[in-house]
Amino acid sequence: MNNFTFENKTTVFFGKGSVAESLPALLGGYGKNVLLAYGGGSIKNNGVYDEVTGILEAAGKNVTEFSGIMSNPTYAKVQEGAALALENDVDLILAVGGGSVSDCCKAVSAQAKLDEDLWELENVKHGAPGGLIPLVTIVTVFGTGSEMNAGAVITNEELKVKGPLWGAQADAAFLDPAYTMSVPFVQVISGAFDTLSHAMETYFDTCAQNLSDDINLALMGSVVRNIRTLLDDPQNYEARSELAWASAMAENGILKIGKLTGFECHMMEHQLGAYTNCNHGAGLAVIHPHLYRHIYEGNVERFARFAREVWGASDADDNAAALAGIDALAAFIKEIGLPTTFAELGIPADTDLRAVADSTVILPGVPKQLDADEIYQILVECK
Ligand code: NZQ
Ligand code: ZN
Repeated sequence: MNNFTFENKTTVFFGKGSVAESLPALLGGYGKNVLLAYGGGSIKNNGVYDEVTGILEAAGKNVTEFSGIMSNPTYAKVQEGAALALENDVDLILAVGGGSVSDCCKAVSAQAKLDEDLWELENVKHGAPGGLIPLVTIVTVFGTGSEMNAGAVITNEELKVKGPLWGAQADAAFLDPAYTMSVPFVQVISGAFDTLSHAMETYFDTCAQNLSDDINLALMGSVVRNIRTLLDDPQNYEARSELAWASAMAENGILKIGKLTGFECHMMEHQLGAYTNCNHGAGLAVIHPHLYRHIYEGNVERFARFAREVWGASDADDNAAALAGIDALAAFIKEIGLPTTFAELGIPADTDLRAVADSTVILPGVPKQLDADEIYQILVECK
């Protein structure tokens, strides 16, 4: 196993009713001024806004609202939130929503403490030299795993780059699967596929297999099983709670212990998102099988194990099993109703895929190192 240091500072409050039960006491540990951040308004329709504002009011907090955080949050939105936080001397950011709200708030927590431009600084000095405003998240849709890490994925529209910024990792995260009952079903599924994608991207590297891989294979099997349960029974609370915890587990660092992970599908999808604003999980669904047919030969044995343990492939030959596993993944994507081509995803046919490929970050750690030309070829195959 590779050397590692592991820490995760987020306290998780999991389950139905956890906000009402534990948020009031938690708020006592922070100052008076709270930035209440949320998205386009779903929390006003499903009762979460009323519940949270009631708790904030009872705790005597001064609340400033930061609303309208869009899916695939922009750097301009981060600046808007940072200005609000600064103006109102905010002591705590309370992010209520999915990965987009959480990510935007992480970057706000760093930008509000800095005179410099966070984006420029990120390329010079990693981290948040000015400090961070504390963050607490209430998750209302699952998949990204943003709730238990410090990474924020932000779209810089001017530069046409969707990329990582570091910000506050939440001190605490409330994961109430009951909040997801109002999420459009297609988003539930694309979020769950995002979790599967994180697990797959973490699993496929060139390191020796270790305990993280054993845990990961079990997690992938669980995600596949629970997505199928939801297809038959969309409101199933148990399946939704399994998927909620899998979302956090896939990105809280545990599966990455002792590994060098690649995340090349994410790098491609993020740039596709920068050019098209497509849905994250659905974009990943289109790209994954095509990418894997290009890279599996770099680690046939690992792909064969994935095929056998997640998809039940019975081929004795590793190469045949590896290919059967990729076919099973592609069939699963179809079965769960996610797009299998860019056309189905709604990507305009004249999208500049060459520019997407040329701006995709190429990371080490994948079974086969790609170059921009091969990334372009994969993107064209996705059309
Ligand atoms: O904006 P509102 O009105 O709240 O509607 C949202 C949004 O339209 C809706 N929604 C959320 N909770 C709901 C609900 N609708 C009804 N009932 C509820 N309870 O769901 C839609 C999608 O929300 P969004 O936050 O955009 O989705 P997701 O959680 O998938 O986040 C996507 C973003 O996270 C980034 C993605 O790239 C994308 O920008 N990622 C962040 C990661 C991280 N920080 O670790 C890792 C991921 O790989 C990913 O890149
Ligand atoms: Zn993702």
